[in-house]
Amino acid sequence: MFKALVLEQEGKVTSSSIQELDDSRLPEGEVTVAVEYSSLNYKDGLAITGKGRIVRNFPMVPGIDFAGTVIDSADSQFTEGDKVILTGWGVGENHWGGMAQKARVKASQLVKMPEDLDSRKAMMIGTAGLTAMLCVMALEQSGVTPEQGDILVTGASGGVGSVSISLLKQLGYSVVAVSGREENTQLLKDLGAKEVLPRSRFEEPARPLDKQLWAGAIDTAGSKVLAKVLSEMNYEGTVAACGLAAGFDLPTTVMPFILRGVNLQGVDSVMCPLAKRTEAWNRVVKLLPESYYEAACTEVSLEETAEQAEAITNGQVTGRVLIRI
Ligand SMILES: NC(=O)c1ccc[n+]([C@@H]2O[C@H](COP(=O)([O-])OP(=O)(O)OC[C@H]3O[C@@H](n4cnc5c(N)ncnc54)[C@H](OP(=O)(O)O)[C@@H]3O)[C@@H](O)[C@H]2O)c1
Repeated sequence: MFKALVLEQEGKVTSSSIQELDDSRLPEGEVTVAVEYSSLNYKDGLAITGKGRIVRNFPMVPGIDFAGTVIDSADSQFTEGDKVILTGWGVGENHWGGMAQKARVKASQLVKMPEDLDSRKAMMIGTAGLTAMLCVMALEQSGVTPEQGDILVTGASGGVGSVSISLLKQLGYSVVAVSGREENTQLLKDLGAKEVLPRSRFEEPARPLDKQLWAGAIDTAGSKVLAKVLSEMNYEGTVAACGLAAGFDLPTTVMPFILRGVNLQGVDSVMCPLAKRTEAWNRVVKLLPESYYEAACTEVSLEETAEQAEAITNGQVTGRVLIRI
């Protein structure tokens, strides 16, 4: 038997409860993992509250990421006792996920735990941290260097935003944060932002082109916020866009692209190929300072997760939420 957070749906209403399940209920997969930690991401919040159509088949165990120890493997790449991490691949959306004491997944979806990392630290980073690293790599790949000017990070208090600030700071970039919560200003400066701008400044309708201010940007918001960011990019600057906290639309024009050569680089962590995600995991672990693990997380139990899910969908969570299984 194992304990799990289980989502069920009646009519269009999603409900969650903690249940004891028999091992025979575990889905198909080559590797069974004793989950030690999962984390709460925005997408988990949408899935658990039912506010977004993330889960298509019920009952579902949510949790788009987890870290733990292999207890059984039918694949020769893994043996009992191996420490592993999983993020994405639709796990926690269409395949039972990490908010349970056991998970069974495909061997090809697992990343071996990098050196110097354990399950707890891995989930303090989690999908949000991996995505932040992928965003930074996208800026690097398009040639954005620290000498070129400031990097803007939107949704700064959230998981992706807060890790992005830490990573950029470690790499020598000058970071300007955008936040809707004035009370987080000092925290964002402690993470490495030199300045924090109010989100309201980015919520007004954008002109096609505005004063050039940013060499690069990591956008977790989409919609009007991303449109405004695009209008303020330097000539040939790059925006790494990964999120939709403000909405999935994009009310912009082609002007930033055709008159300033601005690059809009999409970032996806869910189906990111294994080689790239392994590189990102190894880099994020090396870059994050030890202080990140001391300040960046709220730790909750499986029983407290539903409450936190509501909070994250209301934009009330700061940093990362670690789930102790
Ligand atoms: N592409 C991918 O693979 C991938 C992976 C992970 C996450 N994501 C997406 O990236 C986004 C951030 O994820 P997360 O886990 O960091 O979520 P999160 O922890 O909830 O952070 C989102 C942050 O966005 C800001 N925000 C909230 N409502 C907003 C609004 N209406 N307009 C503008 N900003 C708003 C808030 O920060 P402030 O209060 O500081 O403004 C909030 O903390 C989500 O949309 C998520 O779905 C995508």
